Amino acid sequence: MSSTHSSTNTAKIDFKAIQVLMAPAMSQVDKEILRELNSDVVLINQIGFHIINSGGKRLRPMLVALSACALDYDGKDHTTLAAVIEFIHTATLLHDDVVDESDMRRGDETANAIWGNAASVLVGDFLYSRSFEMMVGVNDMRVMDILSHTTNAIAEGEVLQLLNINNPDTSEAQYLEVIRRKTAKLFEAAAQLGAVLSKADDTTEKALAAYGLHLGNAFQIMDDMLDYTANVDELGKNLGDDLAEGKPTLPLIHAMTNGTAEQAEFIRETIKNGNRDAYLDILAIIKSTGSLDYTAEFADQEAKKAIDALSSIADSNFKTAMEQLALFSIQRSY
Ligand code: IPE
Ligand code: IPE
Ligand code: MG
Ligand code: MG
Repeated sequence: MSSTHSSTNTAKIDFKAIQVLMAPAMSQVDKEILRELNSDVVLINQIGFHIINSGGKRLRPMLVALSACALDYDGKDHTTLAAVIEFIHTATLLHDDVVDESDMRRGDETANAIWGNAASVLVGDFLYSRSFEMMVGVNDMRVMDILSHTTNAIAEGEVLQLLNINNPDTSEAQYLEVIRRKTAKLFEAAAQLGAVLSKADDTTEKALAAYGLHLGNAFQIMDDMLDYTANVDELGKNLGDDLAEGKPTLPLIHAMTNGTAEQAEFIRETIKNGNRDAYLDILAIIKSTGSLDYTAEFADQEAKKAIDALSSIADSNFKTAMEQLALFSIQRSY
């Protein structure tokens, strides 16, 4: 994210350094992912490998591992649960690209663009159900409780979002409720699971859950901003997908209440009809109304809350990396 829109005055986070710190844990996670992706149904392998090998950031599984490491967990279940979390994330992406009619992800064609909507939905279902097979293997009722509620909340978030599509009267509070459920809950579960595995006390578990939730909010708010401001090659997704779909995200919601009557009316019409061609005009409006700055500031505040939530956790390289991930989520360009 460019510093022009960010009020957080911090040095650029080195995401590679965090990846290096977590490389031993994440290589185990990748092995588990590849093993569990296997099916004797060829199309499942093809689509599964296409999306899994296309280079996602693996942030959510990294959170499971970081949280477990920060609490000195010495078992092996964090590898399985990290893979579970990435499978759930990947399933939501397969479904999301169908719903959003997106044709580019991770710098490549989306599965729905290559194999069609039906195949994407069904392989998404395969990943969801495989993730449940894996979590049952961990045999911990708390883990199953958290993950079953999380996937349910994601589904609710996606349906709530569907109801807001083409609705210019969507409020900021409604928008925040959607992103909490569709995105932040999975980040919350990822960080919390590390604490559950470590048998941390209730306060610690709540602290990590709060960290994940605020990080997830920051991450999605920034994602919604990047849909207007990113560089396509870096982002690996098309810009303007949200506008094309008539999705009322934070920059638009802010601009409608802070722009002139004429600007507000133009945004209302674009949300009602969904129009990618209005992209440059809308971009000019959300810049002039300070809506990009507002959005960046909102994400900053969420990232700060995430960092604050970790205050009672003992210092370690892993805790520092978690603080840095919160900042990375608002500085990122991809
Ligand atoms: C994309 O998430 C979906 C959102 C919640 C915005 P990521 O940006 O983490 O996707 P990958 O896994 O790195 O591609
Ligand atoms: C995140 O929303 C989707 C999920 C939580 C599944 P977006 O629709 O903004 O995600 P991208 O931009 O397609 O990755
Ligand atoms: Mg999408
Ligand atoms: Mg997006």
